[in-house]
Amino acid sequence: KPEFSILVIGGDGIGPEVTAEATAILDLLSAHPKGRATFNLLPRLFGGCSIDKYGVSVTDEVLETGRKADAILMGAVGGPKWDGMRHGFEGPEGATLRLREVTQVYANLRPCEYFAAGNSPLREELVRGTKFIVLRENCGGAFYGPKEETSDYASDLWSYKRSEIERVTRMAAHLAISKASPKKTVISCDKANVLASSRLWRKVVQETMEREFPDVEIVHQLADSATTLMMMRPTLFNGVVLADNTFGDLLSDLAGVIPGTLGVLPSACLADIPVQKWGDKPIKGFYEPVHGSAPDIAGQGIANPIGAILSTALMLRYSFGMEEEATAIEKAVNLTLDEGLRTRDMKGTASTTEIGSTIRKTLLELLNEQAL
Ligand code: NAD
Ligand code: IPM
Ligand code: MN
Repeated sequence: KPEFSILVIGGDGIGPEVTAEATAILDLLSAHPKGRATFNLLPRLFGGCSIDKYGVSVTDEVLETGRKADAILMGAVGGPKWDGMRHGFEGPEGATLRLREVTQVYANLRPCEYFAAGNSPLREELVRGTKFIVLRENCGGAFYGPKEETSDYASDLWSYKRSEIERVTRMAAHLAISKASPKKTVISCDKANVLASSRLWRKVVQETMEREFPDVEIVHQLADSATTLMMMRPTLFNGVVLADNTFGDLLSDLAGVIPGTLGVLPSACLADIPVQKWGDKPIKGFYEPVHGSAPDIAGQGIANPIGAILSTALMLRYSFGMEEEATAIEKAVNLTLDEGLRTRDMKGTASTTEIGSTIRKTLLELLNEQAL
């Protein structure tokens, strides 16, 4: 039975609360008689809690563990306590950026499917049938350009190289062709009417698609109007929504309006095209829900663990080729929501641990019925 090593970062705020429900699923799979793999969990401090203990938001040991691990699972980092410490990459959020950079997880997949009827603030008939993946470029752009920061002047250089745009475009096309996407369409969002980096983006996306993926439809959309369209007619985005680091960050949080909470959105940051089948060499992935550390609800036991749990499903699918287990987790989440069990962000009263344990109970039933 193969063993996979997973760097586990609870982080700050609700991070540890939601991550505990995600790692409990990995433990369940490791221990299950039908389990195909053992997950060796390597928990580490990271972000604000690492600043408190070690004086730095990420130690070299943790970066090295992340580099060596088969995958990384993270909750979230940051909070008001460390807000004044963000110079350069020094704050809690900077630690996330550094770990993404050292692992070169350049493709950040943030799937958004409409589920849990009745929870969206948008009209049901508008959101029904929505299914897209925001694909955010994750290792370049304004987040990583040289910074200048004085008390009177600050700048972040927003730049892209052709090669960075090409590799994420190939990932977009790969996803558009895969069953993760309901349509063979890539909708690329930029501001080519204003930004030079966006003009290169649009040109390289178009050229790469024409040259290498002529049977995948490519649509270019200005990123500002994309936000209105995404709320007015979300199904227009069915397919893969490709964007650079900044626009992808915004569009993936905006997508939280569709299910009605950020708490259910998962994310996968990948260093390569996903594993195709069980038995293939694992590919490095950094899995984290889209949401942050939610300091407003931290410590109350009411955070929604579904984003973290679905991120674990993405890990099994994309890093390890464990499609059956990933699908079973997703099914268990949907069945739990169908039962009406929901946290407060979904107008329910269930606690984080109630949701987590019900999902695990349902997952066990599914695993017992299913042949792996
Ligand atoms: P946030 O995502 O933490 O919270 C936004 C809103 O959504 C809040 O009202 C919060 O209560 C709610 N929410 C988020 N996750 C939820 C969940 N699982 N269940 C229920 N409700 C949930 O965004 P923010 O308030 O802008 O940021 C808070 C801190 O988190 C900041 O320090 C920010 O830098 C950090 N952050 C970290 C990450 C990360 O580590 N991956 C991501 C985003 C933000
Ligand atoms: C996210 C977060 C991070 C980002 C921050 C906390 C570094 O907002 O994962 O979306 O901007 O990438
Ligand atoms: Mn974000």
